[in-house]
This record gives sequence, structure tokens and C-alpha cells, in this order.
Amino acid sequence: MFGRLMPETASVQAVLTDRIFLGLTIASALILALVVGLILVFAIRFRRGSRVDRHPLPDIVSREFEIGWTAATIFLFVFVFWWAASAQIGAYSAPPNAIEIHVVAKQWMWKAQASNGAREINELHVPVNAPVKLIMTSQDVIHSFFVPAFRLKRDVLPDQQTEAWFQATKTGTFHLLCTEYCGTDHARMLGRVIVMEPEAYARWLSAQPEGDDLAHQGERLFSERGCAGCHAPGSRVHAPSLAGIWERPVPLEGDRFATADAGYIRDSILQPGRDVVAGYAPVMPSYAGLLDDGEIQAITAYIRALGSEPGVVRELGTP
Ligand code: CUA
Repeated sequence: MFGRLMPETASVQAVLTDRIFLGLTIASALILALVVGLILVFAIRFRRGSRVDRHPLPDIVSREFEIGWTAATIFLFVFVFWWAASAQIGAYSAPPNAIEIHVVAKQWMWKAQASNGAREINELHVPVNAPVKLIMTSQDVIHSFFVPAFRLKRDVLPDQQTEAWFQATKTGTFHLLCTEYCGTDHARMLGRVIVMEPEAYARWLSAQPEGDDLAHQGERLFSERGCAGCHAPGSRVHAPSLAGIWERPVPLEGDRFATADAGYIRDSILQPGRDVVAGYAPVMPSYAGLLDDGEIQAITAYIRALGSEPGVVRELGTP
């Protein structure tokens, strides 16, 4: 019945979002009808000249009635909060088996890279009925990733990483828009999400020039850009080893701890002097302006591939 009122729905999240939207609309409409209806009844019944009893009401509002309607209102509010909050929390927690795609926004295009290194511009190929996690950052200003048919919208920020996920339920081509004003060609920062059957997606993926996967690109950058000069085992500088630190606590000066996640690694590369690792001299230079966002993503992927077991040096497999 409401299908035609709403934009096309093509993801698990879209169905949930629409349900909340319609639920709130129906609840609001019912309450509005009740209030307007009562106003009309009283306005007509007590109009000037009508013969009705105009004496003050006896004290008929009982305590039970008072408690009843207060409880009903609270219940309604708590229910709406729970409903919307649970959908919101779900929208932020991608399942662990999700396919990861790295997205870099720039004036004025979307660059995407699949985990096998396949790259696309302004297009995003994904399989149907599988969770897809987007790991996004911007190379310049704030953009916003918006796929109306998926009811998915997330800001994409410079110097930060944002994540979003979706599970498409239909094959087809869907609009991808930038929905944060980002300069002259903001309106033309358009793309397409192409949802394919799993077999077709696998064929598409294997037909792409593979390139290095992100972790291998990161490994190469790690030695080319001089990270390895200090951070590799056996270096004379004795910088902290990066093997096995992924998502583990890092002791900082002043008895504080950080978690070695993407944000921390990014900060350490761009502002190394801010949080110095306990027991080390603050000698690392900033790489701001020397590494772009895609390169930082690649180095992060490399450090992640080195694993989370301290002291265990994992080798990357061949791509
Ligand atoms: Cu990018 Cu608007």
C-alpha cells in the first residue's frame, strides 16, 4: 500500500528505516486525528447559543485515569526510542563477515577499492544478499555518501575514517549521491551502485585488473616511504615494532593507553608528537602532506595484516 509513496527499497536497512518512518507517521496521524477530532466536537457542541450544560465539570478525573494516560505516553516514547535506537545501532555494527570496500571521496568523485585491489571510480560493484562494509575517508573536504534506495547516508570526512554497511536485497543499478555541499561540482559528484548476483559478481571481480591488494600496497609503501627504516626489526633507531599491535592497547606516556586501530595509526602518522609511546623518544617526523589518504589506508591495511599477536611476525601471503 505504501510501496509507491516511498523511494525504491533495495536493502535490509531500507525496509527497517521505512517501517520506522511509517510507524511514526501513522502514530502521529492517529494522535493528530484524536486531538483535532476532540477540538471539533467541543467547538461544535459548545458553540454560542447551543443549549448545553455550561456548569463546571464535577471532579471526575480519577487518579487511575491520570496514572493510566501518563504511563501510556511514557510507554509510547520509550517504545519509539527503543525502536529507532536499535535500528541506528544496527546500522553502525557491520557483521564480521562483511565484504570490505575502501572508499576515498575527493572533489568530485568516488574512488572505491575492493579487497583484492580492484579499483573503480564512481561505480561500486557489490553482490546481492551479502553484507558490504564501506571504510571511507576524504582526500579534501567533507562529502557524504548517500544511496537513497538503501536508506544509507554517512558523512565522509578528511583526516578521519567513517564506516557504513548495507546488505542489498535486489540486483540492479542504484544512484549514489554526494549529499554534503562540497564545491563547484558537488551536484555532479554522482555514482552508481551495481548490485549483482554472487556468480556474476565473482566473474566481474576476477575480470578486473587485480593490482596489489591494499595490504601489499601498504607493505611496499612501508619500505619505499621510509617507515621500515626505523620500524623494521633490527633497525638502529629502535622504533616500536608494528607487528602484532593491531587493535591492541599501546602504552603512552603518562600512564595512558591507546588502542592501535585505524584512527590511532592515522594520528600516529600525521601527528606523531602528540601521543608518544611510553619509553620511546619523540623522534618520528610527521607524514602530513607526504602520504595521501589512500596511502594511509594501505599502510593501515598492512599493519592490520600483521595481526594482533604481540611478538609474532606474520608474513603476508602472495596476492
Ligand atoms: Cu562531494 Cu558534495
